[in-house]
Amino acid sequence: MKYKFLGHSGLKVSQLGFGAGTFGGQGEIFAAWGQASQAEANTMIQLCLDAGINYFDTADVYSHGESERMLGKALVSERQNNIISTKVGIRTTDHINDAGFSRNYLTSAVEQSLKRLGTDYIDVLQLHQFDSFTALAQLMKSLDELVRSGKVRYIGVSNFSGWQLMKAQAIAEQYGYEKFTVNQVYYSLIGRDYEWELMPLNHDQQIGAVVWSPLGWGRLTGKFDRTHPIPAHSRLHDTAQFAPPVNEEHLYQVIDVLRDIADEAGFSIPQIALHWLLQRPTVSSVLIGARNQAQLQENLMAQDIHLSDQQIEKLNQVSAVYPPYPYYPYWNGQFTERFNELVTSQFTQ
Ligand SMILES: NC(=O)c1ccc[n+]([C@@H]2O[C@H](COP(=O)([O-])OP(=O)(O)OC[C@H]3O[C@@H](n4cnc5c(N)ncnc54)[C@H](OP(=O)(O)O)[C@@H]3O)[C@@H](O)[C@H]2O)c1
Repeated sequence: MKYKFLGHSGLKVSQLGFGAGTFGGQGEIFAAWGQASQAEANTMIQLCLDAGINYFDTADVYSHGESERMLGKALVSERQNNIISTKVGIRTTDHINDAGFSRNYLTSAVEQSLKRLGTDYIDVLQLHQFDSFTALAQLMKSLDELVRSGKVRYIGVSNFSGWQLMKAQAIAEQYGYEKFTVNQVYYSLIGRDYEWELMPLNHDQQIGAVVWSPLGWGRLTGKFDRTHPIPAHSRLHDTAQFAPPVNEEHLYQVIDVLRDIADEAGFSIPQIALHWLLQRPTVSSVLIGARNQAQLQENLMAQDIHLSDQQIEKLNQVSAVYPPYPYYPYWNGQFTERFNELVTSQFTQ
């Protein structure tokens, strides 16, 4: 396993991490993600540990907290050497205040996550989405206090826009509060929007990107394409309305090239799609989503692939989408070269 720095933290994380969203099997969205028992979860976590994974992600909202509980149990004897990342802020109950980042809710959300995880500290606490109703100065102070209390070691965001993250970061800088170390982002061969604003921001602020849904919510698995429909028993089939949107023709073009390269290299489509992300600038860790041991074992092999420059370039080209204003100047040749020079120097050991 290769390890990369998590932003400016000095902490090294495995370039492949594990997403425990498939643990728990409860609720409208998560029932379709997976139904692993605790025994199966334990075996999957052991496979991850054997492969050198030290970064494990979950959220309070996954399966009504069951994902946190199962991950905590599976990691209990290996707690110290591993990094647990969780996320709070999405509504968890019908109680009027159980959402967002009021100090009231944030504090109790962290306490509840600690209890479910069975630990006395959270390595990485992320804000699951932006909350426009909580003053950022107050939020950054609350986060700073959580870090000072020892209950949280690093803070991060997920699904923030550039201005939201940068404004919060600037407030933390201004008042001497803890700054963000992690940005958990959607990034895949069928979703490169991350590169327009957030990648340069992460580079500038030395924030490590942790990638969610690296297979585009299960679309880059090889199980469906132009001629094969989405399998009935798959997460994508049951939860497509929650998946990051993609143009269908663009998706099929990417799958066609992925299939060609997978055949040439002797690996599978998901393995090639994961591998492409491992070599992208600013990416600290890519979260594997696997509903069972077989998928996990297959995906872990993404780190063993060697693709030629030409194969990588084919993937770059077929997945490229012309960005909207004001991002298109990045496509001007000279600027792109300078930008690439800047970002490729970062986050590799
Ligand atoms: N911050 C956020 O907002 C956010 C959002 C989403 C996810 N996440 C995090 O990111 C992690 C990974 O996301 P994700 O699960 O959406 O990732 P993904 O890799 O895009 O999708 C994983 C799904 O693809 C299918 N799959 C995976 N490997 C396969 C293989 N080798 N062969 C065939 N099918 C395969 C499985 O679904 P089927 O078997 O049902 O097809 C699996 O559940 C989550 O666990 C969570 O920790 C965060």
